[in-house]
Amino acid sequence: MAKTPTFTCTACGATHPRWSGRCDACGAWNTIQEEAPLSAGPSKKSLGAGKGRALELLDLATEEAPPPRTRSGMEELDRVLGGGLVPASALLLGGDPGIGKSTLLLQATARFASAGLSCVYVSGEEASAQVRMRAQRLGLGEAPVRLAAETNLRDILTTLDRERPQLAVIDSIQTMWADNVEAAPGSVSQVRAAAHELVSFAKRRGTAVILVGHVTKEGQIAGPRVVEHMVDTVLYFEGERGHQFRILRAVKNRFGPADEIGVFEMTGQGLREVTNPSALFLSDREARSPGAVVFAGIEGTRPVLVEFQALVAPSPTPQARRTVVGWDNARLAMILAVLEARCGIPFAGLDVYLNVAGGMRVGEPAADLAVAAALLSAREDAALPPDMVVFGEISLSGALRPVSQTENRLKEAQKLGFSQAAVPERSTGSAPDGFAMRPVSDLTAFVGEMFGAG
Ligand code: TYD
Ligand code: MG
Repeated sequence: MAKTPTFTCTACGATHPRWSGRCDACGAWNTIQEEAPLSAGPSKKSLGAGKGRALELLDLATEEAPPPRTRSGMEELDRVLGGGLVPASALLLGGDPGIGKSTLLLQATARFASAGLSCVYVSGEEASAQVRMRAQRLGLGEAPVRLAAETNLRDILTTLDRERPQLAVIDSIQTMWADNVEAAPGSVSQVRAAAHELVSFAKRRGTAVILVGHVTKEGQIAGPRVVEHMVDTVLYFEGERGHQFRILRAVKNRFGPADEIGVFEMTGQGLREVTNPSALFLSDREARSPGAVVFAGIEGTRPVLVEFQALVAPSPTPQARRTVVGWDNARLAMILAVLEARCGIPFAGLDVYLNVAGGMRVGEPAADLAVAAALLSAREDAALPPDMVVFGEISLSGALRPVSQTENRLKEAQKLGFSQAAVPERSTGSAPDGFAMRPVSDLTAFVGEMFGAG
């Protein structure tokens, strides 16, 4: 095997045949790193030469029961896991440094330990004393969690092999060092090799392994994305610095639905579960403010109400700004184009700011109509009725497409004190008693009805 080096982007994991300053795949600068070539095995002959061991092949049909799951008792975590922790599974918990990954996992491990799992927590970032102090402060000092502060992967694997825990947390994968790979800790090669060893250990010994991965901004340290494909479940812990809300989001789950979220609040005593996120996201809503529109969304299996806020103002520069927080940039551009082309409402020369309140991020196209409503409301300086929620997908023709789970969305809205909803005309499902559905056929009709223009 010729040892051709490969070059890997530390941000997105894409491989390139040669080095370059910018990754074509994700557009990041200075993130491409040379990866040490894999060492050739004992035989350098073609693998087809027939020296391998014949595998035993199995039928698809099985009598085996689904894997037993262990619940932590933290409802917000268990739901995101798909109903609890699965033995022999490998999980990745990604997130910005300082967002609360270690705090979440320390709390979760303590809960799993109290639920009867044997748990080992390996910190490569903090000394044992520091982790202990944090555990004391969080009131978890008595939980039967075994602790180690170590970065040498060989020693860690030997220890885990001896202990055979049911759950092992590795905090973080970027600090681990495999002595058989000639590269610095945190490099793509090291992070991949360490993840591979730990995932193999999980499968071999039946231990559930949780890897912590910091999202990195600079190119020297490999980010969690380079190991996403190796693990069964990928969770991200998100939130805005300065906001106390944290959202745990499953982006991949071989053992449950993806797209599920769990909501937490960072307090002085660690993370607190937020069981009614809608109330939280709408808590400091001002009455009747132009540009603010409440969207009745669905996150995973749960309805969640969030507020979209828009500001539209004449641009002081020839190049008008489009700034979005918590929603897709390209999708905003599309909605602005539809408003202009189909409804004749221009945004040229106007700066547009769009924000989802509370640090939440919305990915559903069902929020299109709420975004359009927020933009129009800001532009016309006219507020929507304060008891109204909005949802619906906008097509390029300006027509409104119905979205899933109308009734769930409306029920949640009613629970939070709203009494009417602007919804796509062809929506199926009926409104709860005392709640008014206002069907809208297309965007032009919506503009006419809400803002008396068109
Ligand atoms: P941490 O879990 O160390 O983040 P990560 O492992 O993702 O890097 O969280 C660090 C932040 O959380 C730190 O800024 C302090 C804050 N924090 C609290 O506000 N309350 C607490 O009880 C704890 C333990 C941390
Ligand atoms: Mg940490």
